[in-house]
Amino acid sequence: MDGSVDLCGVELGGPILNGSGTFDAIAARRVFGAALDREFPFDAFVSKTITLEPRAGNPPPRLWETAAGMLNSIGLPNRGLAGFLESDLPQLASLPVPLIVSVMGFSAREVAELVGAVSERAEVSLIELNVSCPNVETGLVMGADPTETAALLDVVRPLAGKPLIVKLSPNASAPEDVARAAEAHGADAVSLINTLKGTALAPGRNRPWLGGQGGGLSGPAVRPVALAQVAAVSAAIELPVIGMGGITSGAHAADFLSAGARCIAIGTESFRDPAAAGRVRADLAAIIRKEREEI
Ligand code: FUM
Repeated sequence: MDGSVDLCGVELGGPILNGSGTFDAIAARRVFGAALDREFPFDAFVSKTITLEPRAGNPPPRLWETAAGMLNSIGLPNRGLAGFLESDLPQLASLPVPLIVSVMGFSAREVAELVGAVSERAEVSLIELNVSCPNVETGLVMGADPTETAALLDVVRPLAGKPLIVKLSPNASAPEDVARAAEAHGADAVSLINTLKGTALAPGRNRPWLGGQGGGLSGPAVRPVALAQVAAVSAAIELPVIGMGGITSGAHAADFLSAGARCIAIGTESFRDPAAAGRVRADLAAIIRKEREEI
């Protein structure tokens, strides 16, 4: 990709990120070794969301495939802050791109503790506040209401020694209002969309299929929703916007950049095709080159 991108003062080689929790760089490095670093497909890497305490995640089943995407009810399984700092951070820090750590807490105090601890680590370039996970109740409260988002940032911002990205929920009545609140209360960037709340019934229809009952819809099905929300939020605030939701091609990535996003993220498509980000990067570079030639 030609053309570096400034994300909150951090220089990236290009605009392509991963959606949190959709690409396991530690497992990929175990399989591909140094080859992964040589052809690392992202310009910054976003960790799976971490919480203060370890979490096992939601009971299975955790996935349901839809016609054009999937529902997930993963439930934020992770080692917790201490386990992340000890085991995962050293491995993620050696990736060849800046590291963004995604955090989520069950109260403002918990988020503040996470942000304070992660901020102290030089290996971390930016922090993403995942206030929008539909698979735990807190995400819906802190990320769907401008007042709650503002209150959270008022507690967390003074402790953050790194740029803060707020990951917005599409399950808000007006995500641009939440984005305005985030901007006014100290966020440095926003990312969107997280998944759309949904459910699926088990064969026989007498109960929900997912162990967590409901889940979050992602993949190509959500792309028009994501594009509309990225355009609305980009028009509403001055902060950089990281756009994602159903991107599977360079043309889709170019659409999100045209809608106002500074960066884009590949999420569900990496589950279908782990090489997707490299393909999107090459396609997007060709589109941008062609557009420049035509000027
Ligand atoms: O693990 C999870 O359920 C993540 C959900 C999300 O942030 O969308």
